[in-house]
Amino acid sequence: MSTGIILKGQVLSFSRSPFSGGRPEEAARLQEAVAVRDGKVAGAGTLAEMQALLPAAEVADHGRKLILAGFVDAHVHYPQTAIIASWGKRLIDWLNSYTFPEEIRFGDRAYADEIANRYLDLTAAHGTTTVCSYCTIHPESVDAFFAAAQARGQRVAAGKTCMDRNAPEELRDTAQSAYDDSEALITRWHGVDRLDYAITPRFSPTSTPEQLEVMGALWAKHPECLMQTHLSEQTDEIAWVRELFPQARDYLDTYEEFGLLGAKGLYGHAIHLEERERHRLREYGAALIHCPTSNTFIGSGLFDMAGLMAEGQRIGLATDTGGGSSFSMLRTMAAAYEVGQLRGTPLHAAQLFWLATQGSATALRMQDKIGNIAPGMEADLVVLDLASTPAIAQRSARAEDLWEAVFPTIMMGDDRAIAEVWIGGKPVTGG
Ligand code: GUN
Ligand code: ZN
Repeated sequence: MSTGIILKGQVLSFSRSPFSGGRPEEAARLQEAVAVRDGKVAGAGTLAEMQALLPAAEVADHGRKLILAGFVDAHVHYPQTAIIASWGKRLIDWLNSYTFPEEIRFGDRAYADEIANRYLDLTAAHGTTTVCSYCTIHPESVDAFFAAAQARGQRVAAGKTCMDRNAPEELRDTAQSAYDDSEALITRWHGVDRLDYAITPRFSPTSTPEQLEVMGALWAKHPECLMQTHLSEQTDEIAWVRELFPQARDYLDTYEEFGLLGAKGLYGHAIHLEERERHRLREYGAALIHCPTSNTFIGSGLFDMAGLMAEGQRIGLATDTGGGSSFSMLRTMAAAYEVGQLRGTPLHAAQLFWLATQGSATALRMQDKIGNIAPGMEADLVVLDLASTPAIAQRSARAEDLWEAVFPTIMMGDDRAIAEVWIGGKPVTGG
């Protein structure tokens, strides 16, 4: 056993969900220090307690900085890194104009390696320690991503994106090859080190019923895997799904019918949901992934966070890079706040931090490993400077409590606010 290290600062963790009733801030805990040893959190409490726990450990004093679990981004497309912030299109045109031409390039392993490493450098610089990513249809793009994350000791989930229609020929697989390639990747990567496989049919419009059926069969054979897809993002898309699947009761039914609705299912966006869909998602304990910068950037709509939380849905938060316009979970929290404001239901800072850590970890079913600071959790941590720019510093200097002090960093912070990042108990030294 190593001697470990103690980080001293304002250590933020959660004893319950701040959406579970009562005052949101009462779900949060503020402690003086966190002790880290052998890649795990050994404990959190007063400095004296942590020094008693790890007597030989060095103490790194972070003053008034906030120490919390690393951010968990529950829905991203790492292959879209280089086309982030592309102008002027809505979903289907945006896919055809920007996304698909870029994704074609990932058949080249060297390019996939380059972007996977660039993406993980950028996200670590923004305090994100775990992501759940779509890759492209190329198995090489999955190998590249998992290999890059493995080399960094990072906990990630990812999967080969499956499409067998309504995409360029170079980006189409078949029902059979999607099944075979996905299964070979599960065998190669799932459960290796900190890596999890997510079965990934892109969305109903780009899969034939035959492909959705084999994806459902694959998930039934490998229920240990996550399954990720998109659901009810834009109204044009929903109308298209209705044309493509005339028998389906609604969009969710195109997944449900083929065994693609389940507790380990992740449904990105989920904005324009019907009552039946909400009911079934809740019944299965499936996770909805809110991607607010994407929803405003592509013009998709306003996610009903308050209503869906009140009915007990499982919800994670995500950038949706590169439909989303930022790599930063701080910026994503700010956008979630703004979407809440537009719906008349602003989120508390404690709720925003929880969504970006434990909420997303819970959506990914990793809440016993990451997303909070508690003994035995993996030591993925971020140290936030609450005065990282003059604009933020002058506002937080006036704060009368912790929540007022952190809110300017949520609303105006970026990678400059990330003082330090720890992955698996080791400091990230930069790419
Ligand atoms: N729906 C299907 N594919 C995508 C994608 O790559 N990004 C977004 N935002 N929505 C999608
Ligand atoms: Zn997406």
